[in-house]
Amino acid sequence: MTPPFDVRIPAPPTGTVVVPTSYDSILNWDYGSSSEKLRNLYEKSKEAMWNASSYLDFSIDVDPEAENTPNELLPIYGTRLWDRLDKQRELPKLRRMMQAWMFSNFLHGEQGALLAAAQLVAAVPDADAKLYAATQAMDEARHVEAYDRYLRQKIELTFPINPHLSRLLQDVLAESRWDLKYLGMQILVEGLALAAFGMIIHTSREPLICSIVQMIMQDEARHVAFGVLALEGKYEGMSKGELDDRETFIVDASRLMHDRFMAEEVWEHMGMPMKECLEAVAVSETQRAFRKLLFSKIVPNVERLGLLTPKVRAGFEELGVAEFESYEPTA
Ligand SMILES: [Fe+2]
Ligand SMILES: [Fe+2]
Repeated sequence: MTPPFDVRIPAPPTGTVVVPTSYDSILNWDYGSSSEKLRNLYEKSKEAMWNASSYLDFSIDVDPEAENTPNELLPIYGTRLWDRLDKQRELPKLRRMMQAWMFSNFLHGEQGALLAAAQLVAAVPDADAKLYAATQAMDEARHVEAYDRYLRQKIELTFPINPHLSRLLQDVLAESRWDLKYLGMQILVEGLALAAFGMIIHTSREPLICSIVQMIMQDEARHVAFGVLALEGKYEGMSKGELDDRETFIVDASRLMHDRFMAEEVWEHMGMPMKECLEAVAVSETQRAFRKLLFSKIVPNVERLGLLTPKVRAGFEELGVAEFESYEPTA
């Protein structure tokens, strides 16, 4: 008989991280709108505000150890690790940890977006973009609130941030150039979130998380659209050196985002053999499809901004996601 896995529940994250930042805060006395499209998105943002504490039905009972998403979507499904897993005792723990890990990183990503939006209020020169960033900060605050409440009250477990995601968020926040903050947050992190949220809605059977993700997704679609509109034309005629920074940033950030879905933290706390688990995630058909689809919004938006240069395309090809080039951009 094979021994059981040594399951341990992770300690909730605590403490703070200080990210040194340096960017110019710009006061702009010209309050007029320079883009009707951008001002329309600001108007839409105000109209579409929803209250996370009253709109969502938190009275819904959630069993975090039930099969809220089909077992077939677990990365180890069908492997020898799956055969070894005690379906009565260990499978429910694994389900709870997978959900906690996924939504914890969404929560931490939302906090990164909240700080980035707040920075953009000051850093962007354009009046339309300042007003819009202020509404986005309010959106992100609600997103933080909703995911945090779901994790604490329903899953009763929160994971610390994934190291790859943490590095990416800190890079975006520490960056001094505002267009790179947009690129990192609105185009890459939120573009990925938009695709991931869409997949959750299509695969989850748990009504509360579906309604949370649905509401957040509506906001994120606007944030991504704003990023694309704000950056359109920005890179035409940019010097090679400056452009090279953007290309490197996109390639590095895409690799970090791609690698953050290996679920190392879950395998570690399940007491399962790490190497075997990572191999299972790497070859699992559903996980490969998932990691690939995460880029379905990013690649066409990068293309629309004129940044799908040979270097960026090579980076996307390495991740196996270049085919999304022909997809429709968000805006
Ligand atoms: Fe958000
Ligand atoms: Fe957002």
